[in-house]
Amino acid sequence: MKSIVVRSFGGPEVLEVADLPEPEAGEGQVLVRVAAAPVTAVDLDIRSGELAGYLAELDHYALGRSAAGVVERVGAQVTDFVEGDQVMGVCGPLAALYAAQAEKVVFDRGHVVHVPRRASLAQASTLPLNGLTADQALQALDVPEGATVLVTGAAGCVGGFVVELARHRGLRVAAAARDSDEETLRSMGAEHFIPRGADLATAVREWAPDGVDGVVDTAVLRDAAAEAVRDGGRFVALVIGGEPKPGRNVRVRTVWAKPDAERLAELAVLVDEGHLTPRVAETFALAAVAEAHDRFAAGSVRGHLVVVP
Ligand SMILES: NC(=O)c1ccc[n+]([C@@H]2O[C@H](COP(=O)([O-])OP(=O)(O)OC[C@H]3O[C@@H](n4cnc5c(N)ncnc54)[C@H](OP(=O)(O)O)[C@@H]3O)[C@@H](O)[C@H]2O)c1
Repeated sequence: MKSIVVRSFGGPEVLEVADLPEPEAGEGQVLVRVAAAPVTAVDLDIRSGELAGYLAELDHYALGRSAAGVVERVGAQVTDFVEGDQVMGVCGPLAALYAAQAEKVVFDRGHVVHVPRRASLAQASTLPLNGLTADQALQALDVPEGATVLVTGAAGCVGGFVVELARHRGLRVAAAARDSDEETLRSMGAEHFIPRGADLATAVREWAPDGVDGVVDTAVLRDAAAEAVRDGGRFVALVIGGEPKPGRNVRVRTVWAKPDAERLAELAVLVDEGHLTPRVAETFALAAVAEAHDRFAAGSVRGHLVVVP
């Protein structure tokens, strides 16, 4: 079967469509024929070598952490899925010989759930990694209903999910993004909008005079984002080195998304209820994955870039 792999780190030219043996569903696993798998920031970081220090040494690294598709076979001890079910799931380890940008993928039972009824498979494929990242960022922020939250990179893949989930959980959201994103972000639930280029600390205090209770910094603005937080407030980073300088009385947490089928199933319900919007900007054949990496790296993409094997 075809699978996107890298054998050495570098630019999009190191991406290869390899022919790998089909993975098999072992005990407690589900073999899925992949319909769609998003290209995410993590794929670019594995490909470029940015995450090299965190990867086990392997002959090749298969890309794609999240996918949606159709169950082809279930392993022993799997009772909640049958052949033909439409599912979405997230891969376990970062360094893997098999992953989701491939014709087939194997998910552990606790990493996979049925897709939302109201989403296409391409849309559903965007939830298992970036939806869970947004959900876990808000869990780590851990602020009460009614609290004020700044989301940087609010129009991005993770940021958009954070805005909608925060709003749904009764938080008051300030969204930072480009001017052209204002209308969309307000429709997604942002109460305050901060255009790119504005000083975040000042712009936030026009709305929350002491600063916000917390920030989820998906744009990796670090100190500039932390300056918008009130004394005693909270900061969530999503990348290594994404934390602000120490010095202020702000609690900092760094979040690494973990598979969580129970929470993923809850996200599926939110999609069906219209509270969460999986966005797809464009789809790409496996052979065109380098184009998707170029597009992602260029920025200003609104919605996910999804590979359709
Ligand atoms: N920890 C985890 O488990 C985990 C999981 C997934 C993602 N991540 C990380 O989360 C981050 C966001 O991922 P994503 O998929 O949401 O990426 P994305 O779709 O590219 O979104 C990032 C957003 O940040 C904005 N941005 C970037 N640089 C900026 C700057 N200097 N000033 C203002 N805005 C800026 C971008 O705006 P424009 O588009 O307008 O340029 C974009 O909308 C990435 O760093 C990724 O590595 C972490």
